[in-house]
Amino acid sequence: MDRTTWRDPKRVLVAPSMLSADPLEVARGMERARGAGADLLHIDVMDGHFVPNLGFSPADVRALRARCDLPLEVHLMVDHPEAFVPWFSDAGADVLIVHRETTHHPHRLLEEIGARGILAGLAFAPSTSVEDLPYVVDVLDLVMIMGVDPGFSGGSFVPSTPQKVARVRRLIKSEGIRIGVDGGVGPTTAPELRAAGANLLVSGSHFFAAEHPAEAIAELRG
Ligand code: DX5
Ligand code: ZN
Repeated sequence: MDRTTWRDPKRVLVAPSMLSADPLEVARGMERARGAGADLLHIDVMDGHFVPNLGFSPADVRALRARCDLPLEVHLMVDHPEAFVPWFSDAGADVLIVHRETTHHPHRLLEEIGARGILAGLAFAPSTSVEDLPYVVDVLDLVMIMGVDPGFSGGSFVPSTPQKVARVRRLIKSEGIRIGVDGGVGPTTAPELRAAGANLLVSGSHFFAAEHPAEAIAELRG
């Protein structure tokens, strides 16, 4: 991802989540996102332990990388993310997101991701506190606030999410760090999320169900 675009806080980026694409038509889902003007592709990796679902492999990411010129944002919903970082970095991820709940040493892990020349994100499930964020700002490019309990597309939006985004905005002074929301993002929730300070919106079920994908992205951007 080009760093100037990434660091422009006023530009809201939209990332369709491939978890909602038809699993037998992943390439078509990618084309839909590209054709609609998406900024990134969001790819969920799930291990059946940290979340009760299984999902995209390094081979999937490598194949998407070969066919797609959009930046790939890989969301690691896995225990022991340390082991997965090299696999997905080598597969071609441009942004790697790890969960706060899955590591004792987020600073070290984020630093390792950054040392690979890719952007480093830290995700928080709805019940996880964000209060220790100030201690990792020097190695952080993205805070991802989950708007649903992680593991599935189409979950119900947790109402405290906008408040949590606003709290992150107050905790983090650096405008170079993006604040994303993943889960439950749609036309009814996006305005309050943007108003609270979110500038990266992930959309799964809403984007893939939309009749007019380009309009759906424009509407989420605001
Ligand atoms: C949920 C995943 C999301 C999911 C979002 O755990 O991380 O990326 O695809 O789907 P929607 O937008 O349908 O909530
Ligand atoms: Zn995700």
